Amino acid sequence: MKLLLLTASAYALVPSRKLAPGPRYASARREETMVLGAVGAGALRYAVPAVAGLYAARAVKRKLAKGSRPYDREANSVGREYDAWTREGILEHYWGEHIHLGYYTDEEMEKGYLKKDFIEAKLNFTQRMMAWGGVNDATTAAGGKDVKILDVGCGIGGTTRYMATQLPEAKITGITLSPEQRDRATALAKEQGITNVDFMVKDALAMDFADESFDVVWGCESGEHMPDKKKYVTEMARVLRPGGKQVVATWCQRDNATQAFTAEEADSLDFLYSEWTHPYFISVNDYARLFASEAGLKDVVQDDWAKETIASWRHSIWVGVFDPWPVVFAGPRMWWKCFRDGVCLERMHKAFDRGLMEYGMIKGTKPLSA
Ligand SMILES: C[S@@+](CC[C@H](N)C(=O)[O-])C[C@H]1O[C@@H](n2cnc3c(N)ncnc32)[C@H](O)[C@@H]1O
Repeated sequence: MKLLLLTASAYALVPSRKLAPGPRYASARREETMVLGAVGAGALRYAVPAVAGLYAARAVKRKLAKGSRPYDREANSVGREYDAWTREGILEHYWGEHIHLGYYTDEEMEKGYLKKDFIEAKLNFTQRMMAWGGVNDATTAAGGKDVKILDVGCGIGGTTRYMATQLPEAKITGITLSPEQRDRATALAKEQGITNVDFMVKDALAMDFADESFDVVWGCESGEHMPDKKKYVTEMARVLRPGGKQVVATWCQRDNATQAFTAEEADSLDFLYSEWTHPYFISVNDYARLFASEAGLKDVVQDDWAKETIASWRHSIWVGVFDPWPVVFAGPRMWWKCFRDGVCLERMHKAFDRGLMEYGMIKGTKPLSA
């Protein structure tokens, strides 16, 4: 603002041609005019870009304060955004085949998370989740033959294919809202010679699978995109056979039952919802209630893996800093998109760090008799 005033006064001081001085004072006036002209030119040279820079910075700040990709069910914003991420290839370049957070042990955190391979951390997450969810036990209980697993919200199928290699007798089906993800998942399976998988575009809230058709139903980081969390959980339970296991990993918000969100917290959550096309989040407690009361599952167990996964947010930023070229060569549209994603990654880190967000792990078993 000061610079703006300086520029304006410099303009005001430069005499206009109409008020040209008489011959007696002409040379003095000429000098005055030259000095003032120089001040004006200087102000123009430095102040105008500075003011423009200031305005641009404020505009960028304003743009970054609001999420840019809000959830819109009618427009299939989820499918559309994952289509774009898949087509661009940038997400796959940095995150690999698994589009979920990584797992870091205490020991790895002590050594420094940057020493761990970012993509390996994601594979480790899947391994931990499989062990925690009892996926191997569930398939053993089912006799190991004709075991069917449903991966709800499969991304480009990293987890689906990994399970398929670990459980060669099983058939794993992955569903997504993104046709590009389905095609990429299918192509990768073909490339890797994995035949006991299939991928389809299907809405988890309106699945046409028969009741009780899967031995394990798995949802890794898809719940956050669901506009109806109850339907998400109960639909999964509907297609689960009695005795089968249901296991979910999902970003959750703190339980606000006893302590309401402050205006600032609500604002932060609003950004996190609408930057990556999430309708809203719920708490881990809410999920556990849905598993037990609405879906009728037993032995429901919940946990918060925020500590084990939090390094992923900043690790994701660092892998981009260490290897910026795919983004650099992708052009200005991608620079802006990745810049925005970097801001969101940092805001996610902060929200998990201060307990506003939790990393929900929930599992349950379908009773043998209803
Ligand atoms: C963060 S990605 C997780 C991908 C995968 N689970 C993984 O771990 O690599 C979220 C996935 O959920 C899927 N998804 C979101 N809402 C869905 C819905 N209503 N029905 C089916 N899939 C959905 C998206 O299409 C996307 O594939």
